Amino acid sequence: MATYELKINGNTHSVDVDPSTPILWVLRDHLQLVGTKFGCGISQCGACTIHVEGNATRSCQIPVSAIGNKKITTIEGLSKNGDHPVQQAWLEHDVPQCGYCQAGQIMTAAALLDSNPNPTDEDIEATMSGNICRCGTYTRIKAAIKTAAKSGSLS
Ligand code: FES
Ligand code: FES
Repeated sequence: MATYELKINGNTHSVDVDPSTPILWVLRDHLQLVGTKFGCGISQCGACTIHVEGNATRSCQIPVSAIGNKKITTIEGLSKNGDHPVQQAWLEHDVPQCGYCQAGQIMTAAALLDSNPNPTDEDIEATMSGNICRCGTYTRIKAAIKTAAKSGSLS
């Protein structure tokens, strides 16, 4: 076991865990930040996507020992009141079906728009292709990303 001081959603959290523990399980089991979901555990589905230093990252494959001082953002910390432009667009387009994949989808979309505020259809498809939705909400996801991009409120 080892102690880590993790910077998550603007706060510092101390955890005592095995260094090889994926950050996903630190978030979910030790810090009760259960918005980040477990899907495949092998970096194939995107359900566990968080931001590490602003980059969309699969949390199921990153050991806590590799995080260091890097800033983590989870779906709980994406915005204060759940009103990030991507979240607002998700509501407008009524994107989720069962909802299981949606935190990961939103985190991937938010990172995309941070780095590329006006993505083309090809940009959106290429970036989102790693996030699987068993309910098939892909059309609404794409429309919502376009709406969020047009909202002009992304910095
Ligand atoms: S649970 Fe991490 S990519 Fe599927
Ligand atoms: S909304 Fe059900 S898996 Fe995507």
